[in-house]
Amino acid sequence: MSSTETAERPSPAGTGTTGSPAATLREARVLVVGAGIMGAGIAQVAAQAGHRVALFDAREGAAAQAHARLGATFDTLVAKGRLAAEQAQAALARIQPVQGLEQAADCGLVIEAIVERLDVKRELLAQLEALVDARCVLASNTSSLSITALARDLKHPQRLVGMHFFNPVPLMKLVEVVSGLRTDPGVAATVFDLAQAWGKTAVHARSTPGFIVNRIARPYYAETLALLQEQAATPHVLDACLRGAGFRMGPCELMDLIGHDTNFAVTQAVYEANFFDKRFQPSLVQRELVDGGMLGRKSGRGFYDHAAAAPQALPAGADLPAPAPATRVLVAGRGALADRLAAALHAAGVEHGLDPQAGWCGLRVDQACLRLSDGRAATELGAEVAVFDLALRDEPGQALAWAPSADASAAWCEQAPRWLHLLGWQPQRLRDVPGLVVARTLAMLINEASDAVHQGVCSEQGADDAMRLGVNYPAGPFEWLERWRALGTAEPCELLDALDRHYRGERYRVSPGLRARAWRAARLAR
Ligand code: NAI
Repeated sequence: MSSTETAERPSPAGTGTTGSPAATLREARVLVVGAGIMGAGIAQVAAQAGHRVALFDAREGAAAQAHARLGATFDTLVAKGRLAAEQAQAALARIQPVQGLEQAADCGLVIEAIVERLDVKRELLAQLEALVDARCVLASNTSSLSITALARDLKHPQRLVGMHFFNPVPLMKLVEVVSGLRTDPGVAATVFDLAQAWGKTAVHARSTPGFIVNRIARPYYAETLALLQEQAATPHVLDACLRGAGFRMGPCELMDLIGHDTNFAVTQAVYEANFFDKRFQPSLVQRELVDGGMLGRKSGRGFYDHAAAAPQALPAGADLPAPAPATRVLVAGRGALADRLAAALHAAGVEHGLDPQAGWCGLRVDQACLRLSDGRAATELGAEVAVFDLALRDEPGQALAWAPSADASAAWCEQAPRWLHLLGWQPQRLRDVPGLVVARTLAMLINEASDAVHQGVCSEQGADDAMRLGVNYPAGPFEWLERWRALGTAEPCELLDALDRHYRGERYRVSPGLRARAWRAARLAR
């Protein structure tokens, strides 16, 4: 707390002098303002954790309707055996729809989940501050507004903290606990503990555009949209490649699910909030879908036709013949990937030699090269060259992008995917774009996470937890970085530098945080 903010009134929970602040909040009555999707979910979670919850909405009848819907939700949970009937009854009974904000008076915590507008939220917070007890903590579930800006007109801005839940609240484990410039660290710590007590994984975040998840996740959509703009492949192929990397949904199907209007609005908000930093630039491809009303599942059509009965089949790659016999096969490079390639050749009965000094990783088949992408296009690397995408997990049969040089012979274009298939992948041909799909997407996610940590937005652990739990990524960015390094191939930093040289502009600018990590890794490797 800054010295100018020391209380004329006793300070809110977290800085109080009596009892443990966390314990105090754990017993507190909670007021949830806004009984929409998020507010109802928050009320449910708080009630299940034992709190008495008052639920208020400005729209008449909305809180009562939400209460009725929660009753149905509890019934379903009981029917599925996930909750005992008495527990469900008791939790529902603890939630009370209320007609006015006066109920805030005896609450230790107020969580607002109203419309995402700065002016409306500020007005509500001012109203609340006049009603609540001096120790009451005010929390906002805003997904994009600055906590510092929301707190501007409060008499006690130190009591305001972001408590950013994810949708659907009862299922999603993550809560970002967001501190503005004037948030009391004690208040943030108390809310952090409370979220953990509610069965969530809390992560601290500094209030910056997109906080953690909505910031770090931008490249997951942006790289695919950029590839679509370059006509690198169809949405179907790009989705398959990223699912192959372990993501539950590819970016195109995920954007179709979220709704392109919503996804575009978040991207635009992060872009604007970063003073139009090109790294966050929205995509013309998505804008066209939005303008055309092709919003995804909710409108029946986005990248995919959701009215169509059967999903499209993947293009060839699943079942390829063995490659033609070669005079000489060498495994180039050293490290986990080279070992894996050698083991796959061995298992397939292909005689091969090793070239650990090659300076790149992949296979040399007579005069032709099949190289792991280092961020350069195959055409830049030579004529009889094909590049293949990053595979950080050892999942047999996973889709894997590859691309031949523009000067590769027809024979090598035919043989390269057969070698990839023999090595255990389902090759998907792309246009010769540098960094292919997974390599460039993961490098950008790692870069954004490194930047967030570099700027003090969150810790490495926080970034990893946030991405695994907030958007269900198969691993966190720093976990990927470790696995990537274990492959013994080019660092993500080198890949991004190559993309930066290729595309020019700010998009692939390496974060100072990632650059420093690469320097240190290089020193250790010497
Ligand atoms: P929603 O539209 O489902 O619900 C908002 C509710 O707030 C409505 O019932 C509305 O009547 C009520 N409301 C509006 N102004 C009010 C006021 N001045 N006082 C009291 N009630 C008022 O919206 P949703 O999706 O639940 O979002 C609420 C908040 O949560 C927003 O700040 C949003 O950015 C944030 N959020 C939303 C997520 C999502 O996936 N929907 C995820 C994370 C955060």
